[in-house]
Amino acid sequence: MTKSPAQDPSNAAPLHEQIYARIRASIRQGQLKPGQRVPSLRAFAGELGVARGTVQVAYERLLGEGYLIARGPAGTFVSEQIAPSRPHRVAAAAGSSRTPPNQELTEFSIETEGGIPAPLQLGLPALDEFPRKLWTRLMARQVRSAGSLTRPASAGFGPLREALAAYLQRSRGIDAQPHQVFVVPAYTASLALIVDALRLAGESAWVEDPSYPPTAQSLRRLNLQVRNVPVDDHGLDVDFGCQHFPEARLAVVTPSHQSPTGVALTLQRRVELLDWAGERGAWIIEDDYDGEFRYRGHPLPALKSLDTCDRVIYCGTLSKVLYPGLRLAYVVVPQSLVPTMDLACRRTVHGGCPELLQAVAAEFIAQGHFARHIKRMRTLYARRRAMLAEALAPYKTDGFTVCLQDGGMHLLVDVRDDLDDLAMARRAREAGFAVHSLTAWRQGAPGRRGLMMGFTNLRSQTEADRLVAELMRALKA
Ligand SMILES: Cc1ncc(COP(=O)(O)O)c(C=O)c1O
Repeated sequence: MTKSPAQDPSNAAPLHEQIYARIRASIRQGQLKPGQRVPSLRAFAGELGVARGTVQVAYERLLGEGYLIARGPAGTFVSEQIAPSRPHRVAAAAGSSRTPPNQELTEFSIETEGGIPAPLQLGLPALDEFPRKLWTRLMARQVRSAGSLTRPASAGFGPLREALAAYLQRSRGIDAQPHQVFVVPAYTASLALIVDALRLAGESAWVEDPSYPPTAQSLRRLNLQVRNVPVDDHGLDVDFGCQHFPEARLAVVTPSHQSPTGVALTLQRRVELLDWAGERGAWIIEDDYDGEFRYRGHPLPALKSLDTCDRVIYCGTLSKVLYPGLRLAYVVVPQSLVPTMDLACRRTVHGGCPELLQAVAAEFIAQGHFARHIKRMRTLYARRRAMLAEALAPYKTDGFTVCLQDGGMHLLVDVRDDLDDLAMARRAREAGFAVHSLTAWRQGAPGRRGLMMGFTNLRSQTEADRLVAELMRALKA
């Protein structure tokens, strides 16, 4: 930590505020680490050559905001709850105001370094609540059994396929046998496998607009023509797709909570979409990335549960319920596609996902821990979501309106029309926040502006209030 704020002649702020700002910056930038002891009042005041009371005012503010924790005679420590923010590699790459929106799509792929989520990071489950002890116990048991040291099956580890089929039947209303479930390393690998198996390269595909950027990016890389179909309050505008892009052979949708707006595809639209696919002989990819997390009423059944014509290919991931570092996702296909998918797996998947992790995940699901964990996270996320919404509420008059949907793992904050959400997200990332703009996730015509913020890793209302206040300062800077 820099120890001479009193010597900055260009800084007109009172001394205690300068000291406060320096310590806070040292914590946020990681020079002072979580759990590290800070100097005593007397020692620090002596080093700075200022009165003890001046340092005390700064420390008290940091204690009040949760940066520091007083542990009586043991001293004062940096809170373990504070994740240092660091300038993300992608933030620097996307730093130019001339960055076109589609280049800024890289923003979604912010990686967590050292396992610490960036403030308000999207797309992560609550990493602090992952049952590590239980997971370690299951992992140790698998390591001791020789079975999981063999070469994995390309379509997935049998017991995991069984556990997933049973879970999907119970929780998502999907009627599928284990051999219809294919295990892959990630959602984008699911897309590659499906496009390869169904020989869809060269065809055109409806993609929701706005949407999760990797969907359109992956489809383009796989040689499909992306056709942007707008999303309204009922989800994908099927009529628009039929009128403008009747030639499409594929539609990729997020029916439970549209990514990123959070709206659910209404029953009428679901039926229209299934009818379109049935009549056209087209395929629907259902990306059910976080369907489990709904806070009002029950989770909606998957679109796949209505699929009487066998046109829906269901994609799920363990990234949202367990953790993204696991790299396990899955595809469920109609019975008629099983032989084709088997072949494509052998061509594309090159040896499958690590069997040890598949075996641990299988046991975790089969023993009921998965369902219990989802239930616990649903309650926790409802609380953490309310904290973020409450922290944002005072900023409505500044043009930020929280748009609460029934489910999902992030909040969408509508931003007043005269504010530039793209520039705001850039400023936020420069300040260390993993906040995304709605505009960067849009492929077609400009429209509604907004910011997306993750709430799953917020631990207290104090933390939510502090982060939002800091974010707002960064946005207004
Ligand atoms: C809309 C959407 N689909 C799918 C995924 C899953 O991706 P993966 O399986 O690569 O973790 C995510 C992750 O953030 C997502 O937001």
